[in-house]
Amino acid sequence: MNTIKACIFDLDGVIVDTAIYHYKAWKRLANSLGFDFTEHQNEQLKGVSRVRSLQLILGWGNVTKTEAEQEELATQKNTWYMEMVNQMTPAEILPGAKEFLQACRAVGLKIALGSASKNSMTILDKLNLTDMFDAVIDGNKVSKAKPDPEVFLAGAQALGMQPEECVVFEDAIAGVEAALAGDMKVVGIGSPDVLVGANLVIKGLDEMTLNKLYKL
Ligand code: BG6
Ligand code: MG
Repeated sequence: MNTIKACIFDLDGVIVDTAIYHYKAWKRLANSLGFDFTEHQNEQLKGVSRVRSLQLILGWGNVTKTEAEQEELATQKNTWYMEMVNQMTPAEILPGAKEFLQACRAVGLKIALGSASKNSMTILDKLNLTDMFDAVIDGNKVSKAKPDPEVFLAGAQALGMQPEECVVFEDAIAGVEAALAGDMKVVGIGSPDVLVGANLVIKGLDEMTLNKLYKL
């Protein structure tokens, strides 16, 4: 029996590829502190909160900063990041994302966003996608980072759904783990070698169909 009534989408890496902007802003920050930051290191920050990302980067650069200094650095990074985000247009929506959101809406599935990003609302606005979501749970609304299921459970609750009625779409392993910990089905966006445990792994939402969704 088909019990799926809602989809909960991660934002960065699922709906839009902001990783390059995060990378550029973190690299600029690392360089300003006298060390470099690689794309490989950036990969490890997918789904990781801003503060935790900064702590990891400072560790890689062997730099120690007080809590107050860390706050300033995180704010500086976000200012540089938002300069790029503010230039974004709907052309940057990842292939198939808008089409799949529309397909879900057309059959009455509820849709929520479940993202660690505190900038989610601005990004959805830039992409003209705000109206597609019945609920938005972002980094401002949760206190426990993925792989804790808090963000997705809050999404299900905001939609009035039980966890087992929801399917999560995630590109980060911590996000896949969060969905599973919340007793939800999960579609991984990326590589099956990385997204272990996902019920289905696809390369992008352009490969997703309602048929695949109902077969999960
Ligand atoms: C996640 C990204 O979606 O959001 C991470 O994958 C990012 O790279 C995190 O650090 C927090 O984002 P923001 O916009 O609040 O700094
Ligand atoms: Mg992501």
